[in-house]
Amino acid sequence: MDEKRDNVSEEMRTLVDTLNRWGHEYYVLDAPSVPDAEYDKAYARLQRLERESGVRLFDSPTRRVGGEPVKTFARHAHIARLYSLDKAVTEDELDAFFTRVSKAGESAYTVEYKLDGLTMCLTYEGGRFVRAATRGNGVEGEDVTAQVLTMHSFPLTVSYKGTLEVKGEAIIRLSVLAEYNRTAAEPLKNARNAAAGAVRNLDPAVTASRRPEILFYDVNYMSEPFLSTQEEAFAFLQREGFKTFGHRLCRTPQEVREAIDDIEVTRKSIDVLTDGAVVKVNDFSLREKLGYTDKFPRWAIAYKFEAEEAETVVREVRWQVGRTGKLTPLAVVDPVELAGATVRRATLNNIGDIRRKDVRIGSTVLIRRSNEVIPEILGAVSHTGESVQIAPPERCPYCGAALYEEGANLFCPDRACRPRVAAQLSNFAGKGGMDIEGFSEMTAYLFYDKLNVRRCSDLYFLDKKALSELEGFGAKKVRNLLSAIEGSKNVPLENFLFALGIGGIGKVASRDLAERFGSVQALSEATAEQLVEMENIGEKTAANIVGWFADEENAAEVSRLLSAGIRPYVKARVSEGAFAGQSVVLTGTLASMKRGDAQAKIEALGGVCQSAVTSKTTLVVAGEAAGSKLAKAQALGIRVIGEEEFLKILSESVSAPSADAK
Ligand code: IVH
Repeated sequence: MDEKRDNVSEEMRTLVDTLNRWGHEYYVLDAPSVPDAEYDKAYARLQRLERESGVRLFDSPTRRVGGEPVKTFARHAHIARLYSLDKAVTEDELDAFFTRVSKAGESAYTVEYKLDGLTMCLTYEGGRFVRAATRGNGVEGEDVTAQVLTMHSFPLTVSYKGTLEVKGEAIIRLSVLAEYNRTAAEPLKNARNAAAGAVRNLDPAVTASRRPEILFYDVNYMSEPFLSTQEEAFAFLQREGFKTFGHRLCRTPQEVREAIDDIEVTRKSIDVLTDGAVVKVNDFSLREKLGYTDKFPRWAIAYKFEAEEAETVVREVRWQVGRTGKLTPLAVVDPVELAGATVRRATLNNIGDIRRKDVRIGSTVLIRRSNEVIPEILGAVSHTGESVQIAPPERCPYCGAALYEEGANLFCPDRACRPRVAAQLSNFAGKGGMDIEGFSEMTAYLFYDKLNVRRCSDLYFLDKKALSELEGFGAKKVRNLLSAIEGSKNVPLENFLFALGIGGIGKVASRDLAERFGSVQALSEATAEQLVEMENIGEKTAANIVGWFADEENAAEVSRLLSAGIRPYVKARVSEGAFAGQSVVLTGTLASMKRGDAQAKIEALGGVCQSAVTSKTTLVVAGEAAGSKLAKAQALGIRVIGEEEFLKILSESVSAPSADAK
């Protein structure tokens, strides 16, 4: 009987050891040595032995199932305080760190990824895993042992028999997150929140289903310390079976900087979310000399890359009215650092967006910097009892008109609504439009308020006397502005179309439309079918255009603009211009225009501008003090012209006005 028991326990011991070895290879080393089926078979055998004998060894892998949901997380006081890291965001701050360290002594450094997850601390006593806790405030965290038991990247037993605390970051791999989100009813917004949510879930089964893991980077406490460098700490962690995530030993600050540069590049292609690099003094005796501030060790620093996402709290929503009358909600948020700037406002796009993302006043939200200037709110992270729903306004906050809803948007119907007119005027007069120099958004508001300007065409009927009476409008300013307005009448058709501010028509579409139709008149008569035939015009944009010209007030405004003397002309077809097919290099100084303007003119006439003379160059325009490029062109036998000849070509290339000019 006893002998049989011994046999069972012997088999059990062997099975546990084998399964732990395979598990280590699979989860820690990422190098499985047996097929999954073989592992599963041995695991099933172990489960059966445990069931039949009622015995379970301490380090049995069957413990890694977490057990029943817990009611709350118990508080846990850490043996040694878990410090956080001071951060450097500039080269200067990093240099200051090196200077401080070198005053205390000589050491190499380790450079590691700064993992962006939830900081964890695992405790071992007598060689056994006893507890896992979150960092919390550094002094006290939450006991998440049941949740952490479902993970596999750490050992249940270690050879070190004293009290040991190790530190690491709970993370969810980006690929694991993507797979989860593919089918999840509620997608998780980012990997850090996902990891924190998985670990801090009361039900260990939920933790397990999200497949988080812990990556270790620090020995936080040892009752009988024997390690003397961070290198040794890593070797110790690996030897004991903890998963680590790579580090580089650097002998000099210069090597550290190179390692950081590498991390900045490689972090974009690895499967783990990181937000910087951590630089640590390798030598523990120097660490001791450097000591701690009340918050941070003086022997380590986090070099933070500019974050592209951040969390903050929504305090207020303001509605802005754009040039089409569309209302855009702009959230006022608690100031937060994002990608090197302090963010105080974030956009919510429209009312549909607010509802879909369930953003409320008082909600903590995740914001992301996109290509736009104003960051976007990705979604709500949490609400408090005091969070209040954002009610869509019923009336325009500026003019009081009753709003209407179309699709996901609210619109103000009043064409004379102040911010709407100001936005239209700025668009009309701005770059890509009529390009009226000296006309800003401020001018737009001023003209609205003081000169009763309500339509773009009003700009061509300004009363000079009233203008001169405006504050800050001296004789010179009035003269300049009026001549800029007068000068704008001679305008490329594409600019004029853009200036009209038809919804969905940007600079590219304006150019395509100008080329295809050749005049405003022709475009105004175009049918939706004709428009959709164009490469980049979809049904929605086509309907916008047709609808815009069908509107009586719009049509009247176009007539008024043209009768004011605006003469839109079609730019010479690029493939037909004087520089068509030419690769042109500008060199030296032109007396009559800036280099950028010369370049624009060459391109408008079909040429391609290059910065250096190559065998492909066909023409060099040489101004005053042209140097090596001119010499090279001459050596290669490339045609060279001076400024005079260049201007002559330009003046011969002024294109005929379009049919709109009567
Ligand atoms: S070492 C006493 N190494 O970043 C210093 N921390 O902003 C111990 N973190 O809460 C920290 N990656 O949990 C260290 N490779 C790494 C890290 C790392 C991420 C976390 C750490 C800390 C936070 C500080």
